[in-house]
Amino acid sequence: MFAITSKEMKELEKRTITDFDISEEILMERAGISVVQAIWNEYGELPSKSFVIVCGSGNNGGDGYVAARDLLNYTEAVRVISVGYPTTEVARKNYERYLKHGGIVYNYSELGLEEASKIISEADIVIDALFGTGLNREISDEELTKLIEIMNLYSRCIVSVDIPSGVCADDGKIMGCAIQADLTVTFGLPKVGHFLFPGRELCGKLKIAKIGIPSLNMLTYGINKELITTEKLRLPSRPRWSNKGTYSQVVIIGGSNKYIGAPVLSSLAALRSGASMVKVVSVSKVCECAMNHDPSLICVNIGEDFNVERLEDFISTVNKDAIFVVGPGWDTQKSEEKLNIIRKLLLVPNTMIIDADGLNVLSQNIDLLKEKNPSKSVILTPHPGEFSRLTKKTLEDVKQNYELVYEFSEKYGVITVLKDATSIISDGKKIYFNITGNTSLSKAGSGDILSGLLAGLISQHLEPIEAVKAGVYVFGLAGEMVPVEGMNSAFNILNYIPDVFKTLRE
Ligand code: ACO
Repeated sequence: MFAITSKEMKELEKRTITDFDISEEILMERAGISVVQAIWNEYGELPSKSFVIVCGSGNNGGDGYVAARDLLNYTEAVRVISVGYPTTEVARKNYERYLKHGGIVYNYSELGLEEASKIISEADIVIDALFGTGLNREISDEELTKLIEIMNLYSRCIVSVDIPSGVCADDGKIMGCAIQADLTVTFGLPKVGHFLFPGRELCGKLKIAKIGIPSLNMLTYGINKELITTEKLRLPSRPRWSNKGTYSQVVIIGGSNKYIGAPVLSSLAALRSGASMVKVVSVSKVCECAMNHDPSLICVNIGEDFNVERLEDFISTVNKDAIFVVGPGWDTQKSEEKLNIIRKLLLVPNTMIIDADGLNVLSQNIDLLKEKNPSKSVILTPHPGEFSRLTKKTLEDVKQNYELVYEFSEKYGVITVLKDATSIISDGKKIYFNITGNTSLSKAGSGDILSGLLAGLISQHLEPIEAVKAGVYVFGLAGEMVPVEGMNSAFNILNYIPDVFKTLRE
């Protein structure tokens, strides 16, 4: 499913009007009515309920007037609080139509705060039609801020039209203050701000209503942002005649005397996601731990520490299609040596996932990526802290920054997975958002599992970008399967991975 910015939505609406001869008025009519339908579907019959619709002066307010008029068909208990006279012709028309239908409008500037709070608190449902995608600056007006505060404080239930007022449709950020909705009804396509925090949290439940924007229009416009959903997910096929040689090997290079478990988690995740042969290249203690957990792992013991020569010898023996995972539990000690190992690994054509301390080591010389073998796919899986080190930007600047993920991926020719509650993925051509998962994944060791899972999928011959999309999606669902959210270790997640694949394949 595509996700769009406010500019892209405006363009889609403009094309719908000009190329498909569907007027602004039809779009607004359908938008307003779809809000009423969504409320009926979500909260049950309308006649027994009372409504307050808070309308801004733009077209979002116009949608609100349509909804208010439509609600009058079911109940007389409809009140509008108008925040400014409508400024667009189409919104004005719907304001007038609402009045002609006997609708009651209170002017917010004439209502005292106390009166406004009372009206809002008496309604079963408050419809927030203050601002939609037209919000283009911080809400600094004191009266508006107070209105949003009292709506949040006194409403029993808030339904936002398009996006909660105050949330930026392009990045999910709060522009001064914002509505906390229970339900958000958006139109045509979801906006990026619905998926990025804090916007995602403020939307409550999200419904997408069709208002007549032709799907043909959506497809031809070249939108490059997508939400990962089950429908378009590619999973590896496992022919019945396959044997262990049908699939590529996974080679986990990581671990240290300080972090023993991380590469083990990675390797077990690779097996759980379908890899046929997993090698762990690490120090003695890690190899011992790996053997104790699963004797089917193949351990390459490099002694007490990593050094370039030993690794080079090993690399020369590895199949050209083996998948490398570099960095889980590596530790950043002797980082010069480790940076040299990354340099060597970048020169061979094997697909390579760099995670954890592999990323911290790489951040000392990110330009090494430019020297990589031209036929090599490189996947970086940073969390915001690691991405901040890679990009030399502040944590605040990198968090949820999909444009930066895109630019970085394009510049270095890599696939980047910025892991977070909403994960952002880019291959420098497209941007994907993943919203599966919960706090069961906010655990030490989670990242190690994800890197192994991705390697396992690539080893079954999925294209790296498809493997990454499927991997983060599956990993999120595995987190959601934990019976009591958060009451688990990362290790427990391993057990749910096969179940998720089974469900997705059914
Ligand atoms: N503080 C105060 N006012 C602000 C702030 C702020 N921080 N930010 C923006 N505004 C004002 C703008 O100046 C503008 O007011 P003005 O018209 O008095 O200048 C108003 O808020 C615009 O806000 P919105 O109503 O959110 O923006 P817009 O008029 O672009 O409508 C829209 C958004 C089109 C309704 C969108 O949410 C949507 O797609 N809805 C569904 C389809 C629909 O109904 N389309 C309408 C017809 S088609 C069309 O408009 C092209």
